Amino acid sequence: MTYRLFEGKDHASIYQRYRFTPPVEVKNIILQYLDKKKGQPHVLAVDLGCGTGQNSRLLAPHFQEVVGMDISECQLEEARAVPGYANISYKKGSAEELPFPDGSVDLLTAASAAHWFDQSRFLSEAGRVLKPRGCIALLGFSDINTRLHYQDCGKRLDHIYKEVRQTLHPHTSNQVAVADGKLEELYSAIPFPDKERIECIQVNSSISVRNLVGFIQSFSMFQAYRKKDPLTAEDLLLNTQKRFLEEMGVTSPDTEIKQELEYFCVLASKPQ
Ligand SMILES: C[S@@+](CC[C@H](N)C(=O)[O-])C[C@H]1O[C@@H](n2cnc3c(N)ncnc32)[C@H](O)[C@@H]1O
Repeated sequence: MTYRLFEGKDHASIYQRYRFTPPVEVKNIILQYLDKKKGQPHVLAVDLGCGTGQNSRLLAPHFQEVVGMDISECQLEEARAVPGYANISYKKGSAEELPFPDGSVDLLTAASAAHWFDQSRFLSEAGRVLKPRGCIALLGFSDINTRLHYQDCGKRLDHIYKEVRQTLHPHTSNQVAVADGKLEELYSAIPFPDKERIECIQVNSSISVRNLVGFIQSFSMFQAYRKKDPLTAEDLLLNTQKRFLEEMGVTSPDTEIKQELEYFCVLASKPQ
């Protein structure tokens, strides 16, 4: 089954504006793993479920060629509109049917996307297209452990964020629950003996209140909620921004909050 929750033009432009680029810490872990297992040269990386291309662009300086693939044409249109990356091309297609010859790919990545794939068909394609010792890197973050800090009101901001997640919870698909479980089942199903799962990579960053609310808007469960009840969903966003600003005692949504995120990464290398 293919999940088509990211198809709308609106949703794609929210993705382009508000989704995080994966942190450099996680990128470094992936590149070091690839270096250790397969070594240079890094010719072709394929970024599956690339969305609007944040992870594809992060990989671009490290590979001769990067191909971003997604089933949503609207997401790809947004990705293609970002100038300055001559070695990236974007293709419409699914992780379960990869348009690459056998043994041709150095690195297959999926950032916050692998939970949407059909596990066994994706893994069988990965085994086919990867070069010997080529690598899979599936990364994501576990939003349950996100922590917010602003002066002395971090706990209260965490509480607001948690309440928003609870409101959206009934609209969570099973697939998002798979991501919240840090891809444990997918990791177990990888047939390569050489594999590891790093469960907790703590990353500190900062984000404006406006962008945090925009990020909430990008969640598939928020989009599902909005489909069902557009006015209440819009109210939730406005009200959340208002509550954050009141707690912080500021008026500008551009005020920055410190954010602690917990990333995870599943790594595997195809046998020789
Ligand atoms: C949560 S978004 C992540 C996008 C981006 N990688 C990021 O880090 O923000 C998941 C993306 O996976 C895509 N997707 C879902 N199922 C897919 C499949 N079977 N093959 C390829 N892409 C898929 C969706 O269209 C969506 O753009």
